[in-house]
Amino acid sequence: MSETKIKISDLHKAFGKKVVLNGIDLEVAKGESLVVIGGSGTGKSVLIKCIQGLLVPDSGSIEIDGEETVGVDKHRQEELHSKMGMLFQGGALFDSLSVWQNVAFSLLENKKMPAKEARTEAVRVLRQVGLAPDVADLSPSELSGGMQKRVSLARVIATRPEIIFFDEPTTGLDPIMADVINDLIIETVKGLGATALTITHDMASARKIADKIAMLYQGKIIWQGTVKELDKTDNPYVKQFINGSSHGPIKVEI
Ligand SMILES: Nc1ncnc2c1ncn2[C@@H]1O[C@H](COP(=O)(O)OP(=O)(O)OP(=O)(O)O)[C@@H](O)[C@H]1O
Ligand SMILES: [Mg+2]
Repeated sequence: MSETKIKISDLHKAFGKKVVLNGIDLEVAKGESLVVIGGSGTGKSVLIKCIQGLLVPDSGSIEIDGEETVGVDKHRQEELHSKMGMLFQGGALFDSLSVWQNVAFSLLENKKMPAKEARTEAVRVLRQVGLAPDVADLSPSELSGGMQKRVSLARVIATRPEIIFFDEPTTGLDPIMADVINDLIIETVKGLGATALTITHDMASARKIADKIAMLYQGKIIWQGTVKELDKTDNPYVKQFINGSSHGPIKVEI
């Protein structure tokens, strides 16, 4: 039996009259890689923000390691947050800091690690994502998009998170670089023994990095299964989404 890392039950979140999450049930096992797919505006980012404690759900439960996290005090919320890492869409690197300072940001700011030690650690983690030590002193703006993605990934793994969120990790990369990043994601997640939750529209990436895929539609998880099951499903919503067709039960609101 695998241990449950994240357990979401009957989660609801609305903004005014707009219901975004309407009873989400989802479990992620420890060390598992879950990919959430779903159209633009279906609430994928809202779901991640609720798990991270950045948005407060209206009702429902989010357990991490068996502990209820909805409604805990600020101090506990911060402790829980420190177990998590997030690879932002676009990387979100600080251009005013060097590459190594970006990678070591949390080590310097939160863990108060001495600069020399933090730099050594940053160079070590950069190597793990395939970057040579000579990029450490460059500015992120001097790097290609693919290299920036690697630096962002290095920044995430430097904190050794137990849970990592990937928001559109391959967007904006060419197919080959996207695949390199997919491989790195798999390697680093497995290396850390982390639990991963990824949001993506890139089905090639989803197929590659997912142990399990879940589809979000109209506020609910309407389907979940393995990649193998994805290819065999008769679910018309899932089929339409993975085939990228404008014809089917999913109507796009324009
Ligand atoms: N802070 C907020 N206040 C009001 N509405 C919000 C807020 N955050 C998200 N929403 C709304 O919730 C809905 C879901 O947004 P969300 O960003 O989760 O979509 P998404 O599935 O991540 O889409 P995409 O694939 O385009 O990133 C949208 O209609 C959005 O406008
Ligand atoms: Mg989003």
